[in-house]
Amino acid sequence: MSGRILVVGLGPGNPDQVTPEAQTALAEASDFFGYGPYLDRLELSPGQTRHASDNREELSRARAALDMAAAGRTVAVVSGGDAGVFGMAAALCEAIESGPLEWCGIDFRVIPGLTAMLAVAARAGAPLGHDFCAISLSDNLKPWEVIEKRLRAAAGAGFVLAFYNPVSRARPWQLARAFEILRDILPASTPVIFGRAVGRPGERMAVTTLDEARADEADMATCVIVGSPETRIVERSGLPPLVYSPRSAGRPAR
Ligand SMILES: C[S@@+](CC[C@H](N)C(=O)[O-])C[C@H]1O[C@@H](n2cnc3c(N)ncnc32)[C@H](O)[C@@H]1O
Repeated sequence: MSGRILVVGLGPGNPDQVTPEAQTALAEASDFFGYGPYLDRLELSPGQTRHASDNREELSRARAALDMAAAGRTVAVVSGGDAGVFGMAAALCEAIESGPLEWCGIDFRVIPGLTAMLAVAARAGAPLGHDFCAISLSDNLKPWEVIEKRLRAAAGAGFVLAFYNPVSRARPWQLARAFEILRDILPASTPVIFGRAVGRPGERMAVTTLDEARADEADMATCVIVGSPETRIVERSGLPPLVYSPRSAGRPAR
């Protein structure tokens, strides 16, 4: 009899932001697949087995998890944040679509989590209060030309932009180039938020403007939010600024 796959989003790192639904799913699983640092967040009981793998091995991890579920185990595959946002859920769907027919019959459930941009936005105020989009700046799985095209289209259409994977040791220049492109499209005063490791040790928030934004402010644990022309910074004496995007755009608020 085939087992189950539970794809679990663990949230951005704060244990209070793991949903009760995710906790229930984690308690039910016998085997845990994921990137080591995500598995490190879990307290496994003696009957639960950990199968850690490297960050870049998503498809082989997905196949190994499906193999084990096909053999009758209850398998949790974990992602940080939400598993459906630049996480393991899509890798599992790809593996199911291209794998043996029996994998299509496995009980497959995705348990949502709090994605990084929402945790960063909440710290800053309400920068995602109006239309927004999320873009990964990693060109590992798509050509950089596609990223540039999407940046220009989204910024030109007035979306707030949330950047995941803004930089890494292997991708040092992409965020600086993204800022360069955006400076030709957006006002210099457009708010930019750097939210690093939100909810985890080492959390750091910084708010600046597009003309002042420096790519070296970000690392691979940072989610960067670039406002739309409507996004505002409210300075507050002795308190961090509030950044928000008004609920209405292109016409006066009612
Ligand atoms: C591979 S993506 C995974 C995203 C994850 N599935 C989610 O929904 O948040 C990794 C990127 O998420 C962002 N990220 C993850 N956790 C974060 C946190 N606690 N604070 C800020 N950004 C975070 C960073 O941009 C990082 O490079």
